[in-house]
Amino acid sequence: MTAGPDGPPGPLRDAEAVVLVGGQGVRLRPLTLSAPKPMLPTAGVPFLSHLLARIRAAGIEHVVLGTSYKAEVFAEHFGDGSAFGLELEYVVEDEPLDTAGAIRNVSHLLRERDVLVFNGDILSGLDLRSLVDTHRSSAAEVTLHLVKVDDPRQFGCVPTDADGRVTAFLEKTEDPPVDQINAGCYVFRRPVIEDIPAGRRVSVERETFPGLLADGKRLQGHVDSSYWLDMGTPAAYVRGSADLVRGELPSAALPGRPGEALVLPGARVAEDAVVDGGSTVGADAVVAAGAQVTGSMLFDGAHVGAGSEVRGCVIGAGARVGSGVTLRGAVIGDGAVVGDGCELLDGARVWPSVEIPAGGVRFSADRR
Ligand code: GTP
Repeated sequence: MTAGPDGPPGPLRDAEAVVLVGGQGVRLRPLTLSAPKPMLPTAGVPFLSHLLARIRAAGIEHVVLGTSYKAEVFAEHFGDGSAFGLELEYVVEDEPLDTAGAIRNVSHLLRERDVLVFNGDILSGLDLRSLVDTHRSSAAEVTLHLVKVDDPRQFGCVPTDADGRVTAFLEKTEDPPVDQINAGCYVFRRPVIEDIPAGRRVSVERETFPGLLADGKRLQGHVDSSYWLDMGTPAAYVRGSADLVRGELPSAALPGRPGEALVLPGARVAEDAVVDGGSTVGADAVVAAGAQVTGSMLFDGAHVGAGSEVRGCVIGAGARVGSGVTLRGAVIGDGAVVGDGCELLDGARVWPSVEIPAGGVRFSADRR
């Protein structure tokens, strides 16, 4: 462990963090049309608040955000970071530089030997100190958080040898040799960042890491089995928020105590309505009489009408769901209207401001 002044474990004051938040979040459209993915409300606060709280809890203060898509909204919300106990800096890419390009693009602001790099869309319970301890004790150039997944066919996989040393980066295949995947969190020695080519798109997984392996450099895997979720799809995003609300992944940024529902100030839930499964009801949102909202997120000002059933859904800001509506696994864009009696199932998505007339429209899509 990293030793503190009174013995282990100590805060990571001699490390700093880079968070990559510049992606377009295509898989989460239409929610990401109005806000970048790391700023989407998640258990009552922007998703990034949970990650920054974890970074701060580990004792890291200096954090650089690599921004591109909708860059300005991050600084508008988080400012210089002092309200969160952080020293936050921002770097904007004129053109998206991809993951490694984005890391290289912030290198002029880095000052410590070890730099933790985070994808800005991962929820995880990883102990950051133990990741850094693995990095330091193995004297690696880069240490990668790896997780084991049930179905590795959906991901590229990252085999390691008996000492935990990464041996390859394998593309997606129908028959992956191991179930370990890149979890989107790394520790870099700073000189490795400076060696990444500047000013062009570079991917960590497709170019930087395979290049380091080909040069015989040590990349260390840190396999960890605590909570981990890539919230890049609507289903994962809804699940992640519900897990935070219920305290399955504790977060210091949760605005309230863990429980079945998080009802934000100004929201109104009718006495005989049911809101559970880790749902969030945003400020000034309404859940009308007899409605059932389970494992879902209602953004600020959203309205769910009488007797409607909403499961595993996101209802965008100011969107209106009529009475007697059934929504399961659906995403309703900001300001959209779903008329009385409609049924939207299985990953259906309604774009912002679209109005679906009343009359029992049944729509199902499987695009998750
Ligand atoms: P999809 O478009 O739905 O795949 O989402 P995404 O754009 O976020 O891509 P992906 O999930 O692969 O990105 C992983 C992380 O890297 C996310 O936190 C992104 O914000 C970030 N990221 C991806 N591309 C860039 C980029 O060009 N610049 C910066 N600064 N960050 C990026």
